[in-house]
Amino acid sequence: MARNKELAGFLLFLSQFPLLQAAKILTISFIGGSHYLLMDEISRILHHNGHQVRMFQQIADGMLPGRQAQQSPYPVSTYSLGEEYIREYNAVFGKSQKEYLLGQHGVHNFLTFLNELSYQCNVTLHQSDILNFLMEEKYDLAVIDGSNPCCFLAAEKLGVPYIAFFPGTFMNAAKVGVIGPVSYVPSLQTQLTDHMDFFGRLKNTLMYLASPIIERKMDVVFQKVIDEHFPLGSRPSIADLHLKAELWIYNVDFTIEFPRPLLPNIQCIGGLLAKPAKPLTQELEDFIAESGDSGFIVVTLGSMISSLPLVEFLKEMNDGFAKIPQKVIWRYKRSEWPQGVNVAHNVRLMDWVSQNDLLGHPKVHLLVTHGGMNSVMEAVYHGVPMVGIPLFGDQYANMVRVEARNLGTFISPDQMKAEKFANTIREVIENRRYKTSAMKRRAIMRTRPFPPDKQLLGWVEHIIQSGGGGHLRPYSYQQPWYQQFLLDVILFLSACVAVIIYLILRVIRAPIYFLFSNRKQKEN
Ligand SMILES: *[C@@H]1O[C@H](CO)[C@@H](O)[C@H](O)[C@H]1NC(C)=O
Repeated sequence: MARNKELAGFLLFLSQFPLLQAAKILTISFIGGSHYLLMDEISRILHHNGHQVRMFQQIADGMLPGRQAQQSPYPVSTYSLGEEYIREYNAVFGKSQKEYLLGQHGVHNFLTFLNELSYQCNVTLHQSDILNFLMEEKYDLAVIDGSNPCCFLAAEKLGVPYIAFFPGTFMNAAKVGVIGPVSYVPSLQTQLTDHMDFFGRLKNTLMYLASPIIERKMDVVFQKVIDEHFPLGSRPSIADLHLKAELWIYNVDFTIEFPRPLLPNIQCIGGLLAKPAKPLTQELEDFIAESGDSGFIVVTLGSMISSLPLVEFLKEMNDGFAKIPQKVIWRYKRSEWPQGVNVAHNVRLMDWVSQNDLLGHPKVHLLVTHGGMNSVMEAVYHGVPMVGIPLFGDQYANMVRVEARNLGTFISPDQMKAEKFANTIREVIENRRYKTSAMKRRAIMRTRPFPPDKQLLGWVEHIIQSGGGGHLRPYSYQQPWYQQFLLDVILFLSACVAVIIYLILRVIRAPIYFLFSNRKQKEN
C-alpha cells in the first residue's frame, strides 16, 4: 500500500516535468562570416532535434563572400542595412584589413568595428515590424551571438531569456566573472602561454589591470543606441546584460585551450563545425590526383576575407607557394585577383571551399589559416598541421595555442616574405613532430565523452526545462566589487594589524624611553 503511494507520488512528480516537446527558440545573428556559420549550425542542430527554430538575421553584403546561397531548413527573419551603408562598411573593413596585413592590430581598429556594430544596432532596433512579430511569437529562449552587444539589446527588447554563445576563446571572460588566476591564465592580447616566466607574469598582471579600462571604452559605444531605444528607468547596461544570460557557451575546446578554472554557468562547446568529411567533387579530386605523392595544402584566410587588399602581400604568398612541391587550393575570389600577377603554377583559386571536407581528405598536408577558431578546430579534428597568418581578434591567441601544442607555427603578416613563407610551410610539412602532435590531438578531440552537438542540445533543453540558469549563476554577480575582491575584509584586517603594531610599539616604547632617559641623566 505504502509502496503504491510512493509510486503514485513519484509519477505525479514526473508528470510535472514532461519530456521536452518542441520548444520555441530564436537564434540571433547580426554578424556574418564565421559568426553566422556557427549560429546557422546551432539553429540546424536545434531544428533537426524537433524544436521550432527561427533566426533573426541581418543580411549584409560580404557576409560569406563567394559562397552560393543555401536554403535554410528553418525560417529566418531578415532585413538589410541598405546598399549605401554596406558600401561604406566594406570600405571601412577593407581599410582595417590593410592595417592588419601590415601587422597593426591595435585597439582602435576594434573600436571602429564596434562603432559600426552600434550604427547597425540602431538600424536593427528600428525594425519594428520584425520586432513586433517576434515579440508576439513568445519564444521560450533565444541563443544569441555573445560577441555582439546588439544581440543582447535585441533579446532584452524582445523580453526573451537568452543563452549567449561566444564564437571564440575566452575573449570577454572577465566580464562574466571568469577571472585568472593571472599566474597561469594568459590574457589573450599578450601572446603568452600558460608557462609564464617572471616577466611574462608581470606583463600578464599589467594587462589584467588595464583591461577594465579598455572594456569600459567598448561598452559606452552603445550608450546612444540604448538611450534611443529603451525608456528612461529601464535602460539596461551591456555589462548587466552579460550577467543576465542564462548560460554562457564558449567555442572553446581543451584539446588546445590551456586548462583553467571556470564557473558552472560557463560551458565550453568547441568545434561544432568540425565533423567527418563529405566527398569532394570529381573536378577537385582530379586536381588533387595531379599532385601525385606530394599531396596538397589548403589556404583560407577566414570566411569574410575572400581577397587581399595589399598586392605586395599577395605576391609574397603566391611566390611562396610557387616554391613548394604540393598543390595549393586557395580560397580567393577569382574576380578580385589583380591583373598582371600570374597565379603560381601549382595554385588553384576557388571562390569558396568546403574547408572541413578538404581537411578530411587523405592527401592534405597542411592548412594555411588566419587562425580563426573554427578553422583551427577543423584542422585539429582532422589531424592537419597549420601555418598561421593571424590578422586580428583572437587569431593571434589561437595560433599561440596551436604553436604551444606543436600543431604548427605562425608568421606575423608584416613578416610575410616568399622565401620565409615557403621554408615555414616545408618545415611544418616535413618535420614529423607536427604531424605526430596533430594526430595525438585529433585522438583527444575525437574521444571527448560528449560530442559538441549533443552538449549543445542538452544544455539548451536543460535551461528551458529548469526555467533558466539561476541555479548555475554565482552569487558574485550581485556582489559589489569591493566585497567580491574582499577589499572591505582586507581593509579591516589591515586596520587590526596596524592597531596591534601601534599598541606593541606603545608597550615596548615605555621601557626603552625609560632606559634612554636614565642613561642621559647619568651622562649629565
Ligand atoms: C538611429 O536611426 C535614426 C533613423 O535613421 C536616426 O534618426 C537616429 O539619429 C539614429 N540614432 C543613433 C543613436 O545613431
